Amino acid sequence: TADLQITPSILNADPGALGAEVARIPSADLVHVDVMDNHFVPNLTFGPAMVESLARSASQPLDCHLMIEDPDRWAPAYVEAGGTSITFHVEAAAAPVRLAREIRAAGGRAGMALRPATPVEPYADLLGELDLLLVMTVEPGFGGQKFLDLCLPKVRRARQLADERGVELRLQVDGGVSLETIGRCAEAGADTFVAGSAVYGADDPDAMYAVVERERRY
Ligand code: DX5
Ligand code: ZN
Repeated sequence: TADLQITPSILNADPGALGAEVARIPSADLVHVDVMDNHFVPNLTFGPAMVESLARSASQPLDCHLMIEDPDRWAPAYVEAGGTSITFHVEAAAAPVRLAREIRAAGGRAGMALRPATPVEPYADLLGELDLLLVMTVEPGFGGQKFLDLCLPKVRRARQLADERGVELRLQVDGGVSLETIGRCAEAGADTFVAGSAVYGADDPDAMYAVVERERRY
């Protein structure tokens, strides 16, 4: 499979030095920014001001994962802040089609995320509205959790549903992705891999990134 991408998550990096932490992974293609609001998930992280600051200092595009309530209201601000792809959770969106179109119209790439218990089938016919589908492989909220194997059949079905419709989108997995689990994700049809603790838990994040990156040829 060609063109697999790995996007390190800065969730487990040092929150007081995020600019410097991003600079520690110069070989990353893009950087995954986990936005949490203490409501959709029991954790609180960054807002648009942080995204704007990172967009100025980082050399890579920012992949913003919004784990927030009411993304219909808040997501467009992350495009304005300089986010390249903006992924909202479908469980929190009132009008996912309208929101995806709004993100695209603002110049962003539209992403939609599914929690582990959210099936992909109800959304089969709106995959064409998306640039990215994120299948969570842990319950969202925290880094360092154990990969949920039960999510893999959904990755496979999502790829199948997209293929059947001739839809080209990035199929991303997020949560517990490591050297041990990345091969199974790629085999199921994922082409974009978020890795948090596997990268930032290493002494040299960029070296670890390079090791994970080699798994592109699983
Ligand atoms: C979890 C976040 C993930 C997290 C992944 O809710 O969406 O992006 O940073 O961390 P690891 O790779 O440690 O599971
Ligand atoms: Zn994430």
